[in-house]
Amino acid sequence: MITGKTKIIGIFADPVEHTLSPSIHNEAFQYLGLNYCYVPFHVKKEYLKDAIFAIKALNIKGVNITVPHKEAVIKYLDEVSDEAKYIGAVNTILNNEETLKGFNTDAKGFVLSLKNEKILIKDKIFLVLGAGGAAKAIVYGILKEGGRVYIYNRTLAKAMAIKERFSNLGFIEVVSIIDKSVTEKVQTIVNATSLGLKKDDPMPLSPELLKSEHVYCDIVYPETHLMKEAEKIGCKVIGGTGMLLWQAVAAFEIWTGLQAPVEIMKKTLNKVLTK
Ligand code: ATR
Repeated sequence: MITGKTKIIGIFADPVEHTLSPSIHNEAFQYLGLNYCYVPFHVKKEYLKDAIFAIKALNIKGVNITVPHKEAVIKYLDEVSDEAKYIGAVNTILNNEETLKGFNTDAKGFVLSLKNEKILIKDKIFLVLGAGGAAKAIVYGILKEGGRVYIYNRTLAKAMAIKERFSNLGFIEVVSIIDKSVTEKVQTIVNATSLGLKKDDPMPLSPELLKSEHVYCDIVYPETHLMKEAEKIGCKVIGGTGMLLWQAVAAFEIWTGLQAPVEIMKKTLNKVLTK
């Protein structure tokens, strides 16, 4: 029940209608008996600054930031965690007595989604497709865990910029074309592009380049066309819901200071996905 003491958490996004985060967090708050409420805010680019100001003005406890604001938001914050600064993107804000601090829980979310499925990262070689905000967090996560990265992007310059940004963390090389000579070198392939969000999107990679020994990860959910093809081939497949769950777990813990009820959050996510 909403009372005068309810703490508000929000998500700022454009579009926002598709978000599953309110369901996941509200169920978790309820399960732990916390007087918090998570609400969606449709924030257009031109209102981002005002929306961030409103966090203090309205005493909102915290927010998630998602497409397309993760990079633009940084300039409006009082503090940014070292990790988020390094990645160059913020997806979680905590309002700590009128000091707004930004965090990035996407990198942790990706790493935990793999670890939870017993996928090794250390000393393994990854091919990351894409060079947007999500790709940056994923590359950072892999390199920090001791994995190696080949990165491909339609716009090559953006992949080069990611290499520049992270090359002091470990091995990262840009590839300008994806063929067998690349895919045969890697154990895990990650789609970090937005391809697959729309039904008629082309696949980010030809399934002919996949082998049953590959792990195929996708940040998109629910199941994409390429995930289905990868399953047919016999690959181990990790979908985008794992990253969604684990970034939410980390954000929950930042806002509440409590251990998140992971099983409840996972169950809620599965329930809303099958609706
Ligand atoms: P996010 O924050 O979700 O990562 P983003 O920063 O807009 O979103 O990045 C989207 C990624 O998907 C980019 O790597 C983009 O490639 P470009 O950098 O060349 O734009 C990739 N992407 C989107 N549509 C694509 C398409 N039709 N073909 C290939 N790559 C595409």
